[in-house]
Amino acid sequence: MSQPAAIHLSGVSKRYGRTLAVDDVSLSVAHGEVFGFLGPNGAGKSTIVKMVLGLTYPTAGEIEVLGQPVGSLAARAEVGYLPETFRFHDWLTASELLHFHARLARVSADVRSRRVRELLELVGLKDRANDRISTFSKGMMQRVGLAQALVGEPRLVILDEPTSALDPIGRRDVRDRIRELGECGVTVFLNSHLLSEVEQVCDRVAIIDHGSIVAEGKLDELLNAQEIELRAGEGAEAAARETLGEGGVRHINGRLRVRVANDDETARLIRRMIEAGVPVYDVRQVGDSLEDLFVRVAERGDV
Ligand SMILES: Nc1ncnc2c1ncn2[C@@H]1O[C@H](COP(=O)(O)OP(=O)(O)OP(=O)(O)O)[C@@H](O)[C@H]1O
Ligand SMILES: [Mg+2]
Repeated sequence: MSQPAAIHLSGVSKRYGRTLAVDDVSLSVAHGEVFGFLGPNGAGKSTIVKMVLGLTYPTAGEIEVLGQPVGSLAARAEVGYLPETFRFHDWLTASELLHFHARLARVSADVRSRRVRELLELVGLKDRANDRISTFSKGMMQRVGLAQALVGEPRLVILDEPTSALDPIGRRDVRDRIRELGECGVTVFLNSHLLSEVEQVCDRVAIIDHGSIVAEGKLDELLNAQEIELRAGEGAEAAARETLGEGGVRHINGRLRVRVANDDETARLIRRMIEAGVPVYDVRQVGDSLEDLFVRVAERGDV
C-alpha cells in the first residue's frame, strides 16, 4: 500500500467490565473510500467509532488514524465527526456555532467567514444563518451538525446516522454531499441503519455483530450471492425443490425465488422444469439486497 490507511485497526478489543463490546477486530479503511459500518443494536459500532476518535481506549490492539497514533492532536485535527446524538450551544446562531467550531478546528481568520457561509448554503440553511439553534427543528440541527463536521476541511469524516432526522430531500442532499466528499478524496466512515443509503453511497462495508466483523468487502462482491427469480407455470416449485433441495426456494410476489450456487445450477433447474413440462415464462438473476445480507448475517452469524 503506497500510503497508510485512513483508519487501521489491528486486533482491537474493548471490554467494559464483563461485557466484551469489541472482540479482536482488524479493519482497514483506505484513503478516499466511503465506508459503511453496519450492525445490529449493541454490536459494537459506536464503541469502535469512539475508539477511532480517541474518546475511549481499546483494552487490546492498535489503532492508527491517518497514519498517526489514535488520539494524537495531528490525527484529531484532520477528522470531522457528526455524533448520533448531539447537543450544541443552542443559544448561538447557526453562523456563530460554525464560527466557533471553525476556530476550534484552527481555520484561519481570513477564510472563516467564507467557509461558514458556503457550508450553511451547502446544508440548505443559508436563510437561517442568523437564527438561534434553539429555534431549529431536529432535521435542521442535523444539518448544522453536518456543517460542523466539515468546517475544518477534514481528510476523514465520521458520520454516525447523519440522516436519521432528515426528510427525503435532505437525505438525498446528504447522500450527494457524501458522494462528493468521496470524489474529492475525503474518507467517509458512515455508520447507518439505513441500508438503502449505505447501498447507494458506500464503496465497501463491514457488518459487525457481537463485537466481531462477520462480513466485509465491496458491496457488489458481498451482494452477488446468486438468486434467480422465475415466473413459471404449475409444478415449478416442485421441480425447484427436486433439483435444489428444500432450502433456498421461496415465493416473493407470486414469483419463485431460488438460490443457486452457479450458472450451471440455473441451467440444470430450467432443463428440469422443461423436461417436467413446466412452462417457463421469465427468468432473471437478482442480486441480494444489503438488507437480505444484513438479516442473514445477524440472524445466523454467517454470510
Ligand atoms: N460505557 C459503557 N459501559 C458499559 N458497557 C458499554 C458502554 N458502552 C457500550 N457498552 C456495551 O458495549 C456493547 C456495544 O455497544 P455499542 O454502543 O458499541 O453498540 P452499537 O453497535 O453502537 O449499537 P446501536 O446500534 O444501538 O447504537 C453493548 O453491549 C453495550 O451495552
Ligand atoms: Mg451506536
